Amino acid sequence: MTSSATCPHIPYPAPRDNPLDPPGALSGLSGELAKAVLWDGSEAWIVTSHALTRTLLKDRRLSSNPASPGFPMMTAASKVLRNEPRSASFIRMDQPEHAHLRTMLSNRFRPVDAEALRGVVGDLVDQRLDALDGATEADLVPAVASPLPASVIAKVLGIAEEDQEFFEDRSARLIDRNRTMDEVRAAREELDAFLDGEVEKRITEPREDLISAIVHEQMLPGHIERQDVVPMCRLVLVAGHGTTASQLALSLMSVLDDAPTRAAVRAGGSGLVAVVDELLRFHTIVQFGLTRAALEDIDVDGTTIKAGEGVVFAIGAGNRDEDVFAGPDALDPDRDARRHLAFGHGAHQCLGQWLAKVEVEECLHRFVSRFPEATLATPASELSFRHTASSYGLDALPVRLQPS
Ligand code: HEM
Repeated sequence: MTSSATCPHIPYPAPRDNPLDPPGALSGLSGELAKAVLWDGSEAWIVTSHALTRTLLKDRRLSSNPASPGFPMMTAASKVLRNEPRSASFIRMDQPEHAHLRTMLSNRFRPVDAEALRGVVGDLVDQRLDALDGATEADLVPAVASPLPASVIAKVLGIAEEDQEFFEDRSARLIDRNRTMDEVRAAREELDAFLDGEVEKRITEPREDLISAIVHEQMLPGHIERQDVVPMCRLVLVAGHGTTASQLALSLMSVLDDAPTRAAVRAGGSGLVAVVDELLRFHTIVQFGLTRAALEDIDVDGTTIKAGEGVVFAIGAGNRDEDVFAGPDALDPDRDARRHLAFGHGAHQCLGQWLAKVEVEECLHRFVSRFPEATLATPASELSFRHTASSYGLDALPVRLQPS
């Protein structure tokens, strides 16, 4: 039995020893529950095992609502959310409100919906790659990884291309641990004002886009209040591109750095689908994990997570659990990584996962087909990794597109 006083205590988020592995402080905790000591000295339970993560993320006694007592606050700015619950989106709600709102979107993000967008996504990738034709060098972060998911989610929501720079910038501010509470609040207010304007336009001028569908199928018939529509759109917008941009940057890096991964991507088909799952597992870009608070006492093999205590799921560590993934620290394109935790698990499991996978598959495959001889211009170990952003990624990915 582990007690809160005797179990290991580790500072969290802990620094990484190697940019491509989760913090060393997390390895070796195995199946045990440990305690994380957060930036403000508060404590939360930390879960690193794959099995326990899957069990507890399905447990309804754990709340996603930051207003729940003991909810782990990973940054000073995240207190903005707790103090202003009206602006919360459903990622931060519990049942039944969560299911009520998520269901309104779930039939637009099924595998079949993502497949239907594959052609559009492929065209958007090609536009980005066309712009590189003739170049010998490029930085793939601003050229491909960042703008591509922003264009895809803008297309889904129906937001004009000229607004892309604005929403990319404000969304990035929302998820940067280095931003102050005031900066985060300002970014959110500007984003919300913009989205409210988009909602207003759709009331009288519906189009073939997600905002119009929410307005006409849900809001106007009275299934959702207008003040909940903007946070819903903000969630799709923000969750939909920063994450995927980070995943694309790291995946492109791995493809360029690892010949077997590149070969699997180039071959396409089921091997491409499998390698994308492995890249999701290996990089686990939601680097600080998922947060919950216990609403009731929960017994875990004799240890009690008490009501009012916080829990952090370090999914990056869970994705390196050797009980599930043999040789977990290796990127292995032949691995069956489908049980990875990169999209979470349970009621809040990523709504956009099928779309995200289509984006990564199309982008990687088209890139290596178009630029088969591209190489990294800077060794992977010397790249600038985003250690403070909640989506782990790269500041830049300089590449040589053609042999010199
Ligand atoms: C939720 C990861 C792309 C929309 C989540 C969660 C994770 C995640 C870990 C669970 C959060 C929790 O349990 O607290 C990722 C990763 C992505 C990605 C790694 C890219 C590689 C997308 C895209 C969309 C999206 C493209 C577009 C719509 C959402 C939404 C939720 C969510 C709406 C909230 C679901 C809910 O609370 O029911 N994502 N995501 N994500 N994601 Fe993603």
